[in-house]
Order: sequence, then C-alpha cells, then structure tokens
Amino acid sequence: MTHNFDTVIIGSGLAGLRAAIEAAKHGTVAVLTKLYPTRSHSTAAQGGIAAALGNEEPDSPEWHFYDTAKGSDFLGDQAAIEVMCEDAIRTVIELEHMGVPFSRTPEGKIAQRRFGGHTRDFGAAAVRRACYSADRTGHAILFALYEQSGLQGVKFFDEFHVLDIAVEEGGCGGVIALEIKTGEIHMFSAKATLVASGGYGRVYKTTSNAIASTGDCLGILFRTGVPLQDMEFFQFHPTGLYGLGILVTEGARGEGGILVNREGERFMERYAPTIKDLAPRDMVSRAIMTEVREGRGIDGRDFVHLDLRGIKRGILEERLPEITTFCKIYMGLDPALAPIPVLPTAHYAMGGIPTDIDGRVFKDEKGGVVEGLFAAGECACVSVHGANRLGCNSLLDTVVFGRRAGMEIGRFLKSAEPGGIGGDLARRTVEGHASMQGRSGTEKAPEIRSELQKRMTDECSVFRHREDLEKLVAEIRALERRAAGIGIKDAGKRFNTEVLEAIELSHLLALSEVIALSALRREESRGAHSREDFPKRDDVNWLKHTLAFRTEKGIELRHKPVSITKFKPVERKY
Ligand code: FUM
Repeated sequence: MTHNFDTVIIGSGLAGLRAAIEAAKHGTVAVLTKLYPTRSHSTAAQGGIAAALGNEEPDSPEWHFYDTAKGSDFLGDQAAIEVMCEDAIRTVIELEHMGVPFSRTPEGKIAQRRFGGHTRDFGAAAVRRACYSADRTGHAILFALYEQSGLQGVKFFDEFHVLDIAVEEGGCGGVIALEIKTGEIHMFSAKATLVASGGYGRVYKTTSNAIASTGDCLGILFRTGVPLQDMEFFQFHPTGLYGLGILVTEGARGEGGILVNREGERFMERYAPTIKDLAPRDMVSRAIMTEVREGRGIDGRDFVHLDLRGIKRGILEERLPEITTFCKIYMGLDPALAPIPVLPTAHYAMGGIPTDIDGRVFKDEKGGVVEGLFAAGECACVSVHGANRLGCNSLLDTVVFGRRAGMEIGRFLKSAEPGGIGGDLARRTVEGHASMQGRSGTEKAPEIRSELQKRMTDECSVFRHREDLEKLVAEIRALERRAAGIGIKDAGKRFNTEVLEAIELSHLLALSEVIALSALRREESRGAHSREDFPKRDDVNWLKHTLAFRTEKGIELRHKPVSITKFKPVERKY
C-alpha cells in the first residue's frame, strides 16, 4: 500500500508528538510507531523537566546553561545548550497551557524540586529547577501532547515497524514500514521525514529502557551512510532497582533521599562535598561502582542502599507514588520503612544522529545536510548533553528541539519537492523482508541478543579499558557473523515477532560496534566515558566530537569541533 504525506514522523514520544503538532500547521502529518503512542518510552520519564522558573527559589537560565555545559564535561555544544535553556521557561508554560497537570506549590505555582547537577550561582548549591508531575512527568506530558496532536489532525499508524528510510541521492523521500498486524508493507512518500524514535538502551543487559528501545532508525540511517555522533557516551543512571534496572527517579534524592554503603556511610559526601547525592549522574554512578568494587556494597555484595526513610510518608505518597509502588511490587519493600537496593542502570544515549538546532540531519563533519531528513529527541545528537546529560534535560530537549524541528519542517515544506521511494529500494526491502519469513538457520536471535547485552555490560559500561574494548569489538563481530545464520520458524506474515526480533538484533549489533569502536578510540575520561587506562580528561587532544561512518572498508571515525561560546572548560568539582 502507498501513502502520501507532507511529513512522516517516526516515533510517538515527546519529540515526535511535539514536532507533529507544529508540522501539522503546514501540511499533512503521519506518525508511525511500532507501539501505541501512549506506550512510548517517554512515558517512563519520572522526575521532571528542567526550567529556571524560579518558583521555589531564585534561579536563572544562565545558571541552567552553565550547569548543562559543566554537566556535559564541556562536550555539549554551547550554542545549542543556550538555545535550550533560554527556551525552557516558555516551553514549560506552553506545556501547562496544553494541559499538563504539573504538581503545585501551596500558592498554586508549578512545583519544582532539586535534581542532580542543577545549581544556583554557578555551582554554589543545589537548586529547585525540575518541574514535575509527581513522579510521572513524562507520562503527563505525553498524554497532553497526544491529545493536542489529535486535535491538529495528525494521522497515527500504530504498530508499524520501520524497515527502511529512503535516503537516496543526498535526500530523503519517505519511509518503508511493516504493518505488524497484517504483515503488509507500506510505502510512505513524504517531503519531510522526521526521525524521533528514541534510544537504544537494550544494547545493555540491565537498563531502564523499554523492550522496544532497540535503535532501529539509527541502525537504518547508519546503513544508508548517515553518520552517528558521540556514541561512546552512554549514561548509566545511578539508581536502578537492583537486579531489574527499573528507574528510581533522581527526584527521590531531590526530595531528601541519600545513598549509603555497608558501613551506613553517606559516601557521596566524599565524592562531591558541595552537592553530595545530587552530583551529576556520571559521578554518582562511578562512586557507587567504586564503593562496590572496594567491598563497601551492602553485605559486601554488588549494590548500595538508597535510603528514603528521612522523607515523610505523606511526601512519598504525594510526590513519589510511582516509585513507592515499584518498590512494593518488585522488591517487596516499603521505602518509608526500608532502604532500597540500587545499582547503576543503562539509561540514556547521549550520542545519536547528528543534527543542527532545527533538527536538520548532518551527513558529514563539514555541515552538509540530508535534504528532507530531520531528527529530534534521544535518537538525535544536537548536542546539548555532550558527555553526560543532566537529569530533566532530556524531556526539555525533546520538547524544545521537537518543536523547532516541526517549525523548520514548516519552512522546508514551502519549497520542497514531492517525496518518493526509489523502485530499487522498495523492491529490495520487500524481497529482503519476505526472505526472512520461515528462513532456515540454527541460530536464535534471543540467544545472540543476551550474549551481546552481557558483553556490552561487562566490557563497556561505567568503567572501560582498552583490553576489554578490543575484546568486545571482536566479540560483536563474531556475534554479527552468527546473526547471519538466524533461523525463523514462523513463516507467516501476521505478528511475525521472530522476524522483528531478528531485525532489531541487527540494529543492536551495529550500534554496539559503533559504541565499542568509538569508546576504544577516545583515549581519555570524560563524562560517562571513563577509561581506566586514561583516567584524565584530555582537552588538548579530545575536546572534539566523534562521528562514525559506515564505509565499504568498515566503520570510519572522524571528528568535528565542539562549540564553546561562554564557559571555558574547567575541572569539574561539585
Ligand atoms: O531520575 C529521573 O527521574 C530521570 C530523569 C531523566 O532521565 O531526565
């Protein structure tokens, strides 16, 4: 079946929906999602969206800008960070007007809480900057944006799995997608295509990311020749529920929770004397892993405690109801009465599809763009998060840059040529997909995926080392060879999840190789990339972005400069 739209958006999380609302003012819009919009991973975002509203105590966009640049370990592009922080207040007010039910102060203003790395007076003390809706902020924003996009006439294609993106001859003409329910392949011709497909935390074993976070569109674009930027930087959130990886919001520490080791010591006092448990995530994750490695995990085991017993039960119930319930259901404990076992969990990809501040996708390190192709949200790398994202800046990023991409698409549509998918590409995709149904082979996708996730976790997570990374690259390549022999028992078309798992695995493998190679190449420690063999940040040689290209000879890594406008790199102390 073929469809024609002015704009096709892949992904129905916050970035995709915010862009859709804007693009729909300028033409027809289709949103494709492999789930249902209300199940997009944005809904899992708990703690808040950052904006210097100053509702609870003095704050300023400039302090927010400084904190974000410093939090990024100075790898974030400051021109983009300034745009985001300056637009944050307007963004939150706009969301409120769209119907987001933010929590309130006693006077009825939007309530704000403390979050890691957000400070007043350029690092003097933690500041209340995270605007929240209890601990369901992503959920609240997603539902409001979904309602608004419906009002704008956006057409949704639910449970459509993208097989290819038509990047041909320097431009993008649309998307080829599989309708999961019927097995039918649909061609979506579009003047503008926006990729807003989220992250790829499923490259790791223990992650806060949903099952669907497999990075399909990054894998597809990489295959077409679009580069991927700064993939070595993957964030581990300090507080995943032990053994499960389910997120326990940083808002818990913002409300007064503390981390303790087996000696009952509030160990973050040693690592970040000024803001302690509210240091940025890379530092807290390293601190927890160091405590565990040095035998100070609880009972000598591989977790520490997040202690919320200092928070009144009424506050827990009002502001942290979701994690209170998670603790009861998954850990069998009441956080008002017992400390929570936690360990860092793979949470957020700082790297992704390189874009400018209006969502246009770069095709090289010199600033050339792919005509008609846009990206926003976690799959994109603007780059506002650099080497380490601050909590609550991801929701802000999605909404600010989703809107900007939608506005830019509006401008682009005025003179854009009609989209279209080349016959060759369409034929190859249809035939390639058909050949997978019932394919013979002895390998199984879930087994290779588990092996990949284990290797990535053991050899490329919070701490990294050359020997591990070299070994990992070889292991991933061996797994790629095994993946060529995957057998698919299901020969049917409808809901053929075996085929989908094999496709997702191909993307997880490709992205893992890029992550491992980029991590191997970067011989320094910066933000979330901590090399034990190169423990120091090296601004002389490494204050630059990595761009990975797929070439006929394999993956090629190139670099481009970082935008430093206002805040010169200094040593990060908290
Ligand atoms: O801790 C959290 O609530 C996560 C927020 C974020 O990743 O921005």
